[in-house]
Amino acid sequence: MTGAVGTDARWTLAIDHGTTATVGAWADVDPRDGWVRVGPVAVDGSTSMPSAVLSRPDGAVLAGRPALEAGAQDPAAALLRTRPHLAASTGGPPELLTQWPRPTTAVDVATALIAKVVRAEAERRRTLPSVVVLLHPAWWSTPAREALRTAGQAALSAIPLTTPDQLELLDSPRAAAHRLGGHGRLLVVDIGGAATELAVVDRAGDGTGSVAAVRSVNVGAEVLDDALAQLVLDRAPPMLAARVRFGGDLEAHRAWYRLRAAVREAKEGLGAAGQVTVALPVLPPENPGYGVVALDHTDLGGMLGPGLEEIAQGIDALVSTLTGPRPAMLARGGLAEMPRIREWLAERTGFGLAHGGDPGAVSAFGPASGAAAWAAERLGLGRR
Ligand SMILES: Nc1ncnc2c1ncn2[C@@H]1O[C@H](COP(=O)(O)OP(=O)(O)OP(=O)(O)O)[C@@H](O)[C@H]1O
Ligand SMILES: [Mg+2]
Repeated sequence: MTGAVGTDARWTLAIDHGTTATVGAWADVDPRDGWVRVGPVAVDGSTSMPSAVLSRPDGAVLAGRPALEAGAQDPAAALLRTRPHLAASTGGPPELLTQWPRPTTAVDVATALIAKVVRAEAERRRTLPSVVVLLHPAWWSTPAREALRTAGQAALSAIPLTTPDQLELLDSPRAAAHRLGGHGRLLVVDIGGAATELAVVDRAGDGTGSVAAVRSVNVGAEVLDDALAQLVLDRAPPMLAARVRFGGDLEAHRAWYRLRAAVREAKEGLGAAGQVTVALPVLPPENPGYGVVALDHTDLGGMLGPGLEEIAQGIDALVSTLTGPRPAMLARGGLAEMPRIREWLAERTGFGLAHGGDPGAVSAFGPASGAAAWAAERLGLGRR
């Protein structure tokens, strides 16, 4: 990296490597007033990077959006949803996810994504961070955390002038609670790509805090996207659906990949617009031309409804193990961005929403900004 001046510039970086998206946030000191401030890291022009990595036969390793885009041609090589493999680490040799075009483990995938975020912000500033914090769900086992730590260390050792001892780990509910601020108990509900993570955090007020209870509910965006894509195929010409589902050839794999990507984007508009059309993949001879399938609110509601009810039951079960006053709720994660999801959860469970008028606390980089600020405070940066 040209122009790097070592670690004296005094900023911290936190990375939330999620199942679907990887986001980074920095913290530094505002020279005008001396307070710690936070902001999102832009990678490839966006504050959210797909958690996709693609190893090209020519040796290049693509991470983020370029990997997702190249995966449309080479779906077998684009590694998506690898974070659940990290979560399942048992302490043995890292799980091999693919042999081709080169042996690749879940740790390698995380390494490529973490390194890309560190480089993006370091290149923008032309300095290196003092600390890099990696986030993980509160329920992760010690081997899962160690797998993430190994990925972080590998990423830092690939970047000149950084050292592995600059690395810290922090669980994301405490990071999210730190971004929100305040005292006392907080219920953090994170409806993410893989699952919904529930945690009750005891906020100590001095930036530490502890996790009083955790639970994971098997409701997440990736499975919803799979189900919506199957619904689109149910409504597509039967010959096309059969080829995409059972063809097994490269063009059929590519068609599924494109359809799955189109459904993910369409879903984000569906909540707000009430109806969207999804373009069917062009796949001769079954589908030589253009075709679309419509999805509406009822389709989404039919799939989300039972999932939301499961989340509500998980919240009830989690909180029933605790004594004391009912905490307020911070509902976040990609699916919580859909209209009325937070309000529905609040009404159904009776927990008030805690974030008030603070959009940063529920944004995609809320936990990462909380973690970056936490690290900056521990280093004594900024006014206290
Ligand atoms: N405004 C929106 N409306 C609907 N869905 C959205 C919106 N924004 C993001 N999403 C969806 O949220 C999902 C990703 O959620 P999120 O980024 O919380 O997951 P993650 O952090 O990668 O996963 P996890 O934390 O489970 O590992 C994607 O499916 C994306 O399409
Ligand atoms: Mg997440």
